[in-house]
Amino acid sequence: MTGFNTQRIHAGYDPLENGKAANVPIYESAAFDMVSEEHGDDLASGRQHGFSYSRVANPTVDVLEKRLAQLEGGIGAVAVSSGMAAVSFALLAVAELGGTIIAPTNLYGASVDALESFFPHFGVHSRFVHNINDLAEVEVAIDEDTKAIFVESVANPSTEVTDIAALADLAHRHGIPLIVDNTFPTPYLFRPIEFGADIVVHSTTKGISGHGNALGGVVIDAGTFDWSNGKFPQFTEKELVISDERAGVWKSFVEEFGKEAFIRRVRVKYLRTFGAVQNPFNAYLQLLGLETIAEREEKEVANALTVAQHLEHAPHVTKVYYSGLSDSAQHDLVSRLFPKGVGTVLSFELEGGESNVAALLNSVKVFTYIPNVGDVRSMIVNPARITHREVPAKYREAGGVTDNLIRLSIGLEDAEDLTADLDQAIAAAFAD
Ligand SMILES: Cc1ncc(COP(=O)(O)O)c(C=O)c1O
Repeated sequence: MTGFNTQRIHAGYDPLENGKAANVPIYESAAFDMVSEEHGDDLASGRQHGFSYSRVANPTVDVLEKRLAQLEGGIGAVAVSSGMAAVSFALLAVAELGGTIIAPTNLYGASVDALESFFPHFGVHSRFVHNINDLAEVEVAIDEDTKAIFVESVANPSTEVTDIAALADLAHRHGIPLIVDNTFPTPYLFRPIEFGADIVVHSTTKGISGHGNALGGVVIDAGTFDWSNGKFPQFTEKELVISDERAGVWKSFVEEFGKEAFIRRVRVKYLRTFGAVQNPFNAYLQLLGLETIAEREEKEVANALTVAQHLEHAPHVTKVYYSGLSDSAQHDLVSRLFPKGVGTVLSFELEGGESNVAALLNSVKVFTYIPNVGDVRSMIVNPARITHREVPAKYREAGGVTDNLIRLSIGLEDAEDLTADLDQAIAAAFAD
């Protein structure tokens, strides 16, 4: 089962093991029969992957994890309750004993806030770079204490793309992993592991789920990073939860799980401790959404391009940010990395001031004023006041998030209705 379209419908699921149900059943059970003392011990120590308590693993969520791991080309995944749980788990798991994460300033707002002002309370610091594709700038920021480079494959809301292969190469030369938030393109448009990324995270709330009906996140492990290179003792120190204290047998995550050390630790320590669990019903909704990801993304990308091209010539629009446009400064990189398109989000700068932005937001009829992306319905938002509110002004401005920037997430409606709606709302925003 190697084709993306086969995997998105079948991967990780066997009807014969699930009452022959065609659809993945929703296993709404907090706990599971461990059957024998021996099996219970194997499950509790993590020696065997299976089901005993839904805070650690659940059969419905398990299918989602296996399916997403395959779609991204990883060896394993842990599904969590939101994209921010996935980002937090991945970053804290690599920098657990303290350290620095290098990231660009144009990340999603809550990720910037976590790195800039919250994670430092836990000894995890950040060093922001303005242009993540400037390898010299990134390399200067790396030092002994650096634990990872964290990027978004397509930035929110500028849609600038990151040269994952070049950054992965740089990170590996310094013995650190590259962690990629691949939320915006989804694995249908881009698969960072194929370009050398070590860990991929998603807000599955967005294009993966696709219907704006379920929060979720996932951490996916490529299984290629060497966690025993001396920089990450949390993976090589003996760990009680996977050892047998009574028998005097002590093991580390690397000894016990080898290539799977990272993703096993995320499950056994992070999911089990912080408990940001994906629930079976949301996992079911996300599996349902995934079944049509290719058709949705294709149509939404085509619609997004039409809207971006239309806005380039619209009155009162001073700039359009969509790296999928043929006149984008990133055109060559985009054509190389994103042959199926760069995504369903774009943004534009409106003339005038805050009152014009407010009037436009209040005038749309087909677009909905919603702080989300990747839904089948088209959405509009003012990032500076909503999604990037917690980003310090110095970073917002560097990332192009001005007070007059408007972000669109394009859905499956008819493109001409979307452009007509924007035209009338822009006209209304400048009517006396
Ligand atoms: C790129 C990116 N990463 C992470 C998140 C956080 O996802 P969630 O809202 O599911 O926690 C978002 C949310 O908008 C996002 O856009």
